[in-house]
Amino acid sequence: MSSNEKRLAGEAALRYVEDGMIVGVGTGSTVAYFIDALADIKDRIQGVVSSSEQSTAQLARHGIPVLDLNATGPLALYVDGADECDPQRCLIKGGGAALTREKIVAEASAKFVCIIDSGKCVDVLGKFPLPIEVIPMARSLVGREVVKLGGQPVWRDGVVTDNGNWVIDVHGWRIADPVGLERQLNQIPGIVTVGLFARRRADVVLVGDRVL
Ligand code: A5P
Repeated sequence: MSSNEKRLAGEAALRYVEDGMIVGVGTGSTVAYFIDALADIKDRIQGVVSSSEQSTAQLARHGIPVLDLNATGPLALYVDGADECDPQRCLIKGGGAALTREKIVAEASAKFVCIIDSGKCVDVLGKFPLPIEVIPMARSLVGREVVKLGGQPVWRDGVVTDNGNWVIDVHGWRIADPVGLERQLNQIPGIVTVGLFARRRADVVLVGDRVL
């Protein structure tokens, strides 16, 4: 059921792709369906900006041109999945450790279309542990600061991000104020990216082929 909804969402996101666009492409199993669907219309777009080595590899297999964000300038559209989504379209992302490049491409894009299955919809964010990408030497420091804020940090041991950094997953937070927590965490030295997409949240959420 969930993989069928992921496929439906990935295919439904094609509605937002217009001729001549450069499309920002996220990461994950739902986005993989979007990339497969995008391949069918690849001659109608200029290319894409990718958010991870994983997506870049799949895009390359389809012969879809992957462009450098520094060369493209602002993008019209970003399509990406999420680990959790609240009714205000705030997200937890980073389950696949691609959060930093995802946040960069989302920020550069005029419209962020988030594609999820219904299992990702929650009233309050936080059941899914919040991923935080950290500079390796700051792992313990960031962990202590997270504990002061009531979270339980768990190092995703063995995982190195595309940027050469580490990931901490924070358990036990009921995130009633996603914008405030994102802002607060962003003040801690050593944190590269918080997997809360609240300030720059999704503009459209597709749950399967249905708009939230
Ligand atoms: C990658 O780091 C994440 O932000 C993904 O977007 C998120 O984990 C969704 O992945 P799935 O589509 O595989 O559930």
